[in-house]
Amino acid sequence: MTAKLNYTREEIFAEYQFASHVKIGDYLFHGGLDAEGNYLSPRSLHRIPAIKAWTQRLKDAGHTTTVFTADDLPMTFFPNTEQSKLLLHHGCKDAMARTLTMVGTIEGYGNAGIALFPQEDLQKYFVEDIEGTCLAHLQYLLPAHGHDEAFSDYKGYKESGHEEMWWVIRDVCLDYPEITDDMFEDLPIPPPPGYQGRAKAAPDALNIAEAIPLAMTPGVPPVLEFMVTGLTSLLAIEFAAASTFKWAKEVLGDPECSSDPEFAVKWVNAISADETIHVTSLQCALSELSTLTILGTEGQHIPGKPVLEAAVKRTIASQQGDRFDRVLAHRMKYIKRELDARPDGEKILAEFAELGPVPEFVA
Ligand SMILES: [Fe+2]
Ligand SMILES: [Fe+2]
Repeated sequence: MTAKLNYTREEIFAEYQFASHVKIGDYLFHGGLDAEGNYLSPRSLHRIPAIKAWTQRLKDAGHTTTVFTADDLPMTFFPNTEQSKLLLHHGCKDAMARTLTMVGTIEGYGNAGIALFPQEDLQKYFVEDIEGTCLAHLQYLLPAHGHDEAFSDYKGYKESGHEEMWWVIRDVCLDYPEITDDMFEDLPIPPPPGYQGRAKAAPDALNIAEAIPLAMTPGVPPVLEFMVTGLTSLLAIEFAAASTFKWAKEVLGDPECSSDPEFAVKWVNAISADETIHVTSLQCALSELSTLTILGTEGQHIPGKPVLEAAVKRTIASQQGDRFDRVLAHRMKYIKRELDARPDGEKILAEFAELGPVPEFVA
């Protein structure tokens, strides 16, 4: 039997028949549980088999299905696992609560960020017929992806996405720490245009041009160029999220640091399962693009491969340096603030510095 390659928007958004939903406090998590209590990602009844089928088609034609991997990016999480555990052993929860609040908040940027992508039929940008490809379905896949990151209410009721799921993990595992307004302010990463949440950027936060390293390749329609660079940047963000998941499971999955280690592991794994859908769809769409010919602004034919390769190069180069140092410095500023308020703060800070690098920061 040939795999199904064409899907409507309704099919891409279709849900499993869940045996139950999960509600923690006021938060109804997206997705649901099967009869055995296993987590099923939201909007994934067809999304997962569709991405598998498109990826398989590429493989069968002898093409690559990976444009770059997490190994191509510098991945260090600060504070590292041991530093984070040290803070929690000493009851220093504020910096951890702040970091987890920011992790959720930045996940929540995703929905507004993804809404900036053109959600249109991309056929006009290609010489070949793109029917039955992942690229042709991005106009449905991207909004489904966006809803995974922040809450969605298109069903007439509100479901929590990754943003609020992280906040619940924080609250359950750190015993409902005090969450203050300043945890949403002065952030080193600014919200994308259209974002309507609580977060506010620091005056020196990076700007969108730093976040999405655009180029103007002669003849490539600017909308398509934005799309390609936006998708490679989004893939890099997904990889960065994966390093956060590993850290969160190590720290919050440790009974000595967490009020509910099982909850932490279960729900970080659930978010991670959703992210796998994002990573595989982005890898597939971008791999397809490198096999296609772009229809240039003057009708010229431009191979997709070098355009994609240049975007990947720019994306990898943009994932290091000053903008990342600012994020680490932001976290360190609040760790230091919390330790300074304790009589044994200096001693803890010395131990902290022995466990890994300490970023420079401006108090
Ligand atoms: Fe996410
Ligand atoms: Fe994601």
